[in-house]
Amino acid sequence: MAAELKLPIAAVTMATAALAALALGSHPHHGTLRAQPGHTARFDYKTRYFEQKVDHFGFAEDSTFKQRYLIGDRYWNQDGGPILFYTGNEGDITWFCNNTGFMWDVSKELGAMLVFAEHRYYGESMPFGKKSFSNPKYLNYFTSEQALADFAVLIRSLKQTIPGAQNSPVIAIGGSYGGMLAAWFRMKYPNIVVGALAASAPIWQFEDLTPCGVFYTIVTNDFLKSGKGCVESIRNSWDAINNLSSRAEDLTFLSRTFNLCSPLQASDVASFKSWLSETWVSLAMVDYPYKANFLQPLPAWPIEVVCTFLQDPSLSAEALLKNIFQAVNIYYNYTGNAECLNISQTATSNLDDQGWYYQTCTEMVMPSCTDGVNDMFESVPWDFQVFSDNCKKDWGLRPRPDWITTVYGGKNISSHSNIVFSNGGLDPWAGGGVTKSISDTLIAISIPEGAHHLDLRSSNAKDPSSVRKARALEVKYIKKWIEEAKIEPVIR
Ligand SMILES: *[C@@H]1O[C@H](CO)[C@@H](O)[C@H](O)[C@H]1NC(C)=O
Ligand SMILES: *[C@@H]1O[C@H](CO)[C@@H](O)[C@H](O)[C@H]1NC(C)=O
Ligand SMILES: *[C@@H]1O[C@H](CO)[C@@H](O)[C@H](O)[C@H]1NC(C)=O
Ligand SMILES: *[C@@H]1O[C@H](CO)[C@@H](O)[C@H](O)[C@H]1NC(C)=O
Ligand SMILES: *[C@@H]1O[C@H](CO)[C@@H](O)[C@H](O)[C@H]1NC(C)=O
Repeated sequence: MAAELKLPIAAVTMATAALAALALGSHPHHGTLRAQPGHTARFDYKTRYFEQKVDHFGFAEDSTFKQRYLIGDRYWNQDGGPILFYTGNEGDITWFCNNTGFMWDVSKELGAMLVFAEHRYYGESMPFGKKSFSNPKYLNYFTSEQALADFAVLIRSLKQTIPGAQNSPVIAIGGSYGGMLAAWFRMKYPNIVVGALAASAPIWQFEDLTPCGVFYTIVTNDFLKSGKGCVESIRNSWDAINNLSSRAEDLTFLSRTFNLCSPLQASDVASFKSWLSETWVSLAMVDYPYKANFLQPLPAWPIEVVCTFLQDPSLSAEALLKNIFQAVNIYYNYTGNAECLNISQTATSNLDDQGWYYQTCTEMVMPSCTDGVNDMFESVPWDFQVFSDNCKKDWGLRPRPDWITTVYGGKNISSHSNIVFSNGGLDPWAGGGVTKSISDTLIAISIPEGAHHLDLRSSNAKDPSSVRKARALEVKYIKKWIEEAKIEPVIR
């Protein structure tokens, strides 16, 4: 079902952006791996599988499935050294593992074991095998609550079975949706994890906790500061496309100018525009200070490179769109290997759009909107009804937009403790994140020059000082939680 998602622009953009963002949870980079060939051995882990209950919350469904997890214990102090536990998000866990260099970088100093747990319904961790997505009844166990319960059960088992791990304090770490899970894990299972690092975690991108336009305003600001004329060029491009989308020869012009894999039909113009929007959003998330390959291989500060093509917003529609092509070609063809551009593809195949789309259609309703004034996009208001109708059509069910705030507390989380929320000033997801400390133990760390969870990436010679400071502070808090756990062991 829903193999081919058909959504109006706003919904597509939102789903994909959310996905990407969420997906982005962790990150980064084969670029760094290549840049530091001598260090690749650090990423050595063993792949394991854990027999996990399909349903933790009822008793009628008694089946089990194999949850994949990865363990790296090269630097683990077997005498109660801590466990850093990555709360897997919407994709293949090996990709998040390879792209969360921060955990590998700090493992030696902390004497820590690293565990990366795959989220159910992603990667190899399918509760009903190949059938998992074939019928809504098999998807019924696809919730964040079940995923958190998987993590809790897995950790208890690891501590019971790995000699020396019994008294190991566990720290949850995650980025993007994985960061939301890390924070929620600490809130719901303080008996299992002593603290959490939630990087770029938009836990307030729900209901009316955050104005729906903030996300796209941040995207626009990233382009605004990256080059003169850039935002105006993109803002004008929508009209240019609209002006060139009715006649057959205009559609041919667009298809040829953008080297599209399949010729554009009049009915594809909306998808074409949302593909461009998603491209700008993705660039904002991965606007890293060095050459990297998270969603796509990209140069350092890719938005600045993109903006070099977009300096003159006053050109004719044709000339403007030729420049827009040069700009998106940086994103899709930096390697020079792309034969054609496919408007059905934006991010990496390591993220599972279908799985994330299902989650947005159930629990993860994250309102987003544009107005064309505070942002550079066409104006599309948030329309829950349209969104919900699409979910009904594609999955046969309707979302519950107020469930996440009900179950995880919305803004009323001051009774919790030991969570660090980090956010990047360039990251559109910072809009729905916790950017001000709530108490002495619910700490916000800001990284003004950071895009989507830059702090979770491997350290790099080109890292701005703000991310170095953020990482040092994160390690300081992690050590504090570990020390406190030794003084006051919790009953497990
Ligand atoms: C992660 O790294 C391992 C080991 O280097 C490699 O085998 C695997 O394919 C990588 N996974 C992804 C999704 O890049
Ligand atoms: C699109 O067409 C309208 C009406 O002809 C014109 O005013 C506008 O300048 C055009 N926009 C672009 C970007 O070409
Ligand atoms: C990608 O770049 C290469 C090298 O510049 C070029 O030959 C190719 O046509 C480009 N692909 C697209 C889709 O434009
Ligand atoms: C474009 O991408 C879609 C979705 O990944 C894929 O099904 C389709 O085959 C691709 N088209 C071309 C011409 O590569
Ligand atoms: C927040 O939660 C506390 C209990 O933890 C409750 O007393 C308070 O009324 C709640 N505040 C709001 C605004 O819901």
